[in-house]
Amino acid sequence: MTAKVIDGKAFAATVRGQVAAHVARIKEERGITPGLAVVLVGEDPASQVYVRNKHASTIEVGMNSFEHRLSAETGEAELLALIDKLNADPAVHGILVQLPLPGHLNSELVINRIAPSKDVDGFHISNVGLLGTGQKSMVPCTPLGCLMMLRDHHGSLAGLNAVVVGRSNIVGKPMAQLLLGDSCTVTIAHSRTKDLAEVCRRADILVAAVGRPEMITGDMVRPGATVIDVGINRIERDGKAKLVGDVHYASAAAVAGAITPVPGGVGPMTIACLLANTLTACCRANGLPEPEGLTA
Ligand code: GUN
Repeated sequence: MTAKVIDGKAFAATVRGQVAAHVARIKEERGITPGLAVVLVGEDPASQVYVRNKHASTIEVGMNSFEHRLSAETGEAELLALIDKLNADPAVHGILVQLPLPGHLNSELVINRIAPSKDVDGFHISNVGLLGTGQKSMVPCTPLGCLMMLRDHHGSLAGLNAVVVGRSNIVGKPMAQLLLGDSCTVTIAHSRTKDLAEVCRRADILVAAVGRPEMITGDMVRPGATVIDVGINRIERDGKAKLVGDVHYASAAAVAGAITPVPGGVGPMTIACLLANTLTACCRANGLPEPEGLTA
């Protein structure tokens, strides 16, 4: 079997188009423009690229983008004061503090200062609790993107065996909660799991989010399974820089029914879902109906 390739780049473009259409409608009918504030502390080069891309995508779908760049030496009180200001600003519907923060800043304290209704990353402890109890919340962007791709491919996920490899707060745990919410039978596996290959082979849906290059190989994939590769690992091969996932693509694609590539799979969905979450937050703040198909 050769797997169907799930084109995340094309799917993300469709999601951004749906967001843009909805933004245009609420601007026209209600005079409301959704706004996203992104806070970057310091000069981490990867974070600068992410923030630039987020700004460009936000503008492209017709939203307001508010960028706040602070020096690496910014103190906690100053950062918290900025978040308080953004929390109180009615033009700001979503707030994202780019991670990682410089070491002297307490990330948990900072993230939990964001108003939960504006927490478009879904990292605030209130949103984590709401998701865990099946209540309406802001959902972390990467797992939301994975869920959208899985729903698009399978229709209903009910009754399917899902194995999530990775237990991070940003991907693994919320991914498992979302799959449970869609009535999958969910296993969370990780680096200490006994006989990981055997556990993975039970999966109709296999989500790899471990951060280890090409760790999931074809022999760990059930024939016909859907494989979602969340990993983005920069490696050097044959003297060249290369981007690979947590899945060994060639061997897995020979066995799977469907698979996301790296690059061009999950990656583009993350920013698309950030925009979707900002729109959702704006609609909730203004008592408007939520955009269909763009939430969990
Ligand atoms: N840094 C890398 N990915 C992310 C993300 O999804 N959200 C935030 N806030 N920071 C990040």
